[in-house]
Amino acid sequence: MSSGRKILSAVEIRKSFKSPGGGLTEVLKGASLDVFENESVSISGESGAGKTTFLNIAAALESPDAGEVHWLGRRIDALSNSAQSALRAEFMGFVFQNCCLIPELNARENVEFAARIAGRHRGRKSRERAEGLLEFAGLGGRMRHLPSQLSGGEKQRVAIARALMNEPSVILADEPTGNLDERTGEAVMQMLLSLCSEGRASLLLITHNPDFARRTSRSVRISHGIACEV
Ligand SMILES: Nc1ncnc2c1ncn2[C@@H]1O[C@H](COP(=O)(O)OP(=O)(O)OP(=O)(O)O)[C@@H](O)[C@H]1O
Ligand SMILES: [Mg+2]
Repeated sequence: MSSGRKILSAVEIRKSFKSPGGGLTEVLKGASLDVFENESVSISGESGAGKTTFLNIAAALESPDAGEVHWLGRRIDALSNSAQSALRAEFMGFVFQNCCLIPELNARENVEFAARIAGRHRGRKSRERAEGLLEFAGLGGRMRHLPSQLSGGEKQRVAIARALMNEPSVILADEPTGNLDERTGEAVMQMLLSLCSEGRASLLLITHNPDFARRTSRSVRISHGIACEV
């Protein structure tokens, strides 16, 4: 257990969805999780257990039916969507299974784009930061490649560089290695874990891979709507 600052806190989250055939499915029944500064936390659980739903609620991309979400000690779930978006752009970076790079922009421009969205683009300074992050991602030789000219693992590393652009406190990753072969997945995983050990960000990672889960500072399993430390 880390003794650092609490970065992200989701408390007693409840969420039900209407089933298409009528009735309600109770997916989360009071799930709670804290993420501390520079720690990595993995979330595992069966398909349909509610992992993505929980991550989306922690990111304020979805509203809980009950419970609270705090970022750096500030309650977030009750804020307006626009206030949430503005805070999210500074506070969080995202890496998903399909990494959603913009096809018309090259690797460097995709990374810079995160700063544009957050209204933080500062000309050459931002360009140089994007280049530095791509170097960190081992993509110094791929700055001008379009997504269509990159391999799956390279695209995923561009997505990680993009997620880091605004110096987020935490990276949220939903099965970021799901589409990658073993070796490439390992490289992406090492990069994500190194963020925490180098003090760049905390990591909240959904993974089905038990080996990856073991390598995070803490592992949590979502089962029957509850998050339990394992
Ligand atoms: N918008 C929605 N409307 C109705 N049901 C939903 C909705 N979103 C999610 N669900 C249901 O909630 C449950 C949890 O979904 P979720 O995507 O969180 O699972 P998961 O643990 O991420 O699964 P996987 O490992 O397959 O990605 C599923 O049974 C799903 O059908
Ligand atoms: Mg999921």
